Amino acid sequence: MTATKTNSVCILGHGISYSRSPLIHNHWMRKYGVDSEYGICDLPADRLPDFLASIRNGDSIGCNVTTPHKQAVIPLLDAIDDAASTIGSVNTIYRRGGLLRGTSTDGAGYVGHLQATHPDLQLKSAKVLILGAGGAARSIAAALVKSGCPVIYVANRTVQKARDIAGLEPGVIEPAGWDNVRSIAGKVDLLINTTSLGMVGRQPLAMPVECTRPHCVVSDIVYAPLETELLAQARALGRPVLDGLGMLLHQAVPGFELWFGIRPEVTDELRTLVERDLLTNG
Ligand code: ATR
Repeated sequence: MTATKTNSVCILGHGISYSRSPLIHNHWMRKYGVDSEYGICDLPADRLPDFLASIRNGDSIGCNVTTPHKQAVIPLLDAIDDAASTIGSVNTIYRRGGLLRGTSTDGAGYVGHLQATHPDLQLKSAKVLILGAGGAARSIAAALVKSGCPVIYVANRTVQKARDIAGLEPGVIEPAGWDNVRSIAGKVDLLINTTSLGMVGRQPLAMPVECTRPHCVVSDIVYAPLETELLAQARALGRPVLDGLGMLLHQAVPGFELWFGIRPEVTDELRTLVERDLLTNG
């Protein structure tokens, strides 16, 4: 991207032409009358130092960060907050007093979406099952711990990765193997798929949704397709569901506020805009 405005922002990653972040932030800029622009910066890892130096020097005011650079940017920043250091990953960079700072809003984005759409679910007493143990699972587990969840099972095909996440909050986060998913699913109030299974082009997640209790909220962070097989099965059984698009929209809120000082709203209008784009462009 060639930015023409010194208050421009972008998403920094590699192989990210699919990103919907420009659509979201440019919508908010129009809505709130912010004269800026949000683009895509597709760069290999060896270009990161120069790129971040250009933000520090005032060529732009910050960026979002996505795969594969969420960990690699950390040593190049001046400071990261607790949300980022807990999970060892940064998705939002902003400048304060000449310093480059990083935070992570993924987990808070998930919880924000959950609370906006399922306000009856009391996180302080909820038992949760997270499927998968990658970066998204780690961010969500950390945000749920912060929200006071007393029991969080993390089940993964490779159990060691689930054990690593459990190290964030031993006694609250319980690691589990894939074989235990069926029995754990029957005891929880919230089930979250963070694996890549169910995504366009991947095999569906073989999850026996009928094992869950009727009130259990079933959620997927996959948003392409919008309605994964997991969500379709849950809906057919009458379970409350939560799709992946809301997390994408909500994780963008803190970044916009840090850059422009305006807390933007996730509205039906924005959701429809992104939904249409997903349906048209995949
Ligand atoms: P992210 O960082 O975006 O969360 P990731 O690190 O690629 O993504 O994690 C993908 C998750 O999907 C992992 O938990 C992975 O399990 P492993 O750690 O065992 O690899 C899970 N996953 C991918 N394919 C899977 C499959 N066929 N069956 C079960 N889990 C799978």
